[in-house]
Amino acid sequence: MESQSFTHIKERLPVYAVPARLRRNPLPFHLGAWAAWTMAARSVGLLARSPLCAQSRSPVRLAAARLLSGAGPVAADVGREEQPLRGAETGSEDKTPKKRFSEVQEERREQAQRTVLIHCPHKVSEKKFLKYLSQHGAINNHFFYESLGLFAVVEFARKESVGSLQSGTLMPHEAAIPFRSRFLSLKLKNAGGQPSEPPSVRASQQLPPSSQRLLERLCRAESVGDQLDTLLQELQLTEENVRLRYLTCSLIEDVAAAYFPDCTVRPFGSSVNTFGKLGCDLDMFLDLDEIGKRSTPKTVGNFLLEFQVKNVPSERIATQKILSVIGECLDHFGPGCVGVQKILNARCPLVRFSHQASGFQCDLTANNRIALKSSELLYLYGALDSRVRALVFSVRCWARAHSLTSSIPGAWITNFSLTMMVIFFLQRRSPPILPTLESLKALASAEDKCVIEGNNCTFVRDLNKIQPSRNTEPLELLLKEFFEYFGNFAFNKNSINIRQGREQNKPDSSPLHIQNPFETSLNISRNVSQSQLQKFVDLARESAWLLQQDGEGGPAPAPRQPWGLAALLLPSVRDSRSLSKKQNRRPASERVKSLLESIKEHNPDSPTATDGKRTMSTHA
Ligand code: GTP
Ligand code: MG
Repeated sequence: MESQSFTHIKERLPVYAVPARLRRNPLPFHLGAWAAWTMAARSVGLLARSPLCAQSRSPVRLAAARLLSGAGPVAADVGREEQPLRGAETGSEDKTPKKRFSEVQEERREQAQRTVLIHCPHKVSEKKFLKYLSQHGAINNHFFYESLGLFAVVEFARKESVGSLQSGTLMPHEAAIPFRSRFLSLKLKNAGGQPSEPPSVRASQQLPPSSQRLLERLCRAESVGDQLDTLLQELQLTEENVRLRYLTCSLIEDVAAAYFPDCTVRPFGSSVNTFGKLGCDLDMFLDLDEIGKRSTPKTVGNFLLEFQVKNVPSERIATQKILSVIGECLDHFGPGCVGVQKILNARCPLVRFSHQASGFQCDLTANNRIALKSSELLYLYGALDSRVRALVFSVRCWARAHSLTSSIPGAWITNFSLTMMVIFFLQRRSPPILPTLESLKALASAEDKCVIEGNNCTFVRDLNKIQPSRNTEPLELLLKEFFEYFGNFAFNKNSINIRQGREQNKPDSSPLHIQNPFETSLNISRNVSQSQLQKFVDLARESAWLLQQDGEGGPAPAPRQPWGLAALLLPSVRDSRSLSKKQNRRPASERVKSLLESIKEHNPDSPTATDGKRTMSTHA
């Protein structure tokens, strides 16, 4: 949860001396929205600047940027050090060949197996610490982070070093379960005698930036496209966070391996599909299929040996039993695993827990291979064009800011569905920005063939075999068109379908129909209610309208007013009216009219402005 109070932000916000043409959408500024938005934004990502988003660097915009980058308390505040190494996996910025999803997974997994997690005292000396550990072998990489204490992630060059380290590690004498994991504690001998110095290590950031920082960064951008790119840079998973996610899976795998020695625990979902934001949950998949594959049956002569196993009535029951036992293990033996809940009767049974040391909320599933394949497909789409991730991040943040998505299950649209909508929209551009799933299937070779539980999940996995798009539309335009497209989509009769890349007749009466790309008879958004869909449509229309005003050089807002994407992430006029049912029923034309009124009211240059002070309204 967002720990900081937002009330102080209003006072500390800078006066954005942006030329009027750049300042947009003087909607009532409500800091609670930023709170909700960043609370939602506790997640991760990977990529670098998209080349197309820095369009429209007009002289005015550049002048504004120079003005904003001038010295002063705000400029100094904002100048946080850039996060190191983004976008290592997809390589879409440079000309290096793009890695396949499976290659990334294997490399990261192997890296995690050579890595240990160490809880450290704050006064640890980095130099001495590394020297001490390197008795066991060369260290490739390390970093520190804070999460209820100081932790170090240390990657050795060789796996044997981990064994050597473990054999030189003491088992505590306290009453405890003697489980030898790769999660260790560093104690300082003679701790009392250590000088009480400030921490000598630099801790890497594992949480999203504060709402204030995000606001400042967005308002300082040069264009809406630049804002989308900034949002991506600020919220995407860092290299360190990705490492920590794979390490956490690897530590959980060690626990599960106590029962199933050849099992694999793989991350999936937004932790690996490149759409994750700092703070997002860690979805894990317990893969037991490898167990069978490791044996090489000797079928010489008339004999064949099989393991004696316990039969159960169905795959689902097998999954439930396995997860139940792993849940018990995590609860009783898993170092740092707390709040273990077994949610075994869900459509997809899972064990949910918090991994305290990493700070991740984890969902462990089994027998969920299709979800892993979906993650691979999203990874591929995210890597094909640098605009995809920027757009998905913005749409996800926009939806969260307006409570269209929620961390609680219910009638809301999910992030997964929103991502499908963005992909579909990009397939519908002319020329298309993304290929359809059918055309990815047509490019597949024999080694790409994949059938899971009777569903054909085949698509080309080598990114380098896919032609880049010829479409050069800027992000700014795409965002506006996205809202316009879905603000006018015939949801009552059509379904969204990324396999065909075109609208199709809805097969049932659910308000929102998004075809599951692999289990094509299923609707991934069948939980979405008509009222939630209507809210989405209304907000999409309103956002398209706001961006349109931006493009047309609409009325200049007061200084300190968020503009462009920043304004879209604030509660809309519609949100503020949702308390009043009566007002909510008013037609769109009236809403737009009062939006204009609100612009007038909040423009201090307007004769109707009440106090004439250049402050940000906090009224909802
Ligand atoms: P976050 O909201 O950042 O966690 O995004 P996410 O993509 O990780 O979503 P979530 O944790 O809800 O689900 C994890 C993964 O499960 C998704 O990325 C999909 O691959 C898959 N998934 C989620 N919901 C559905 C669904 O309704 N149908 C299918 N087939 N797969 C789903
Ligand atoms: Mg997730």
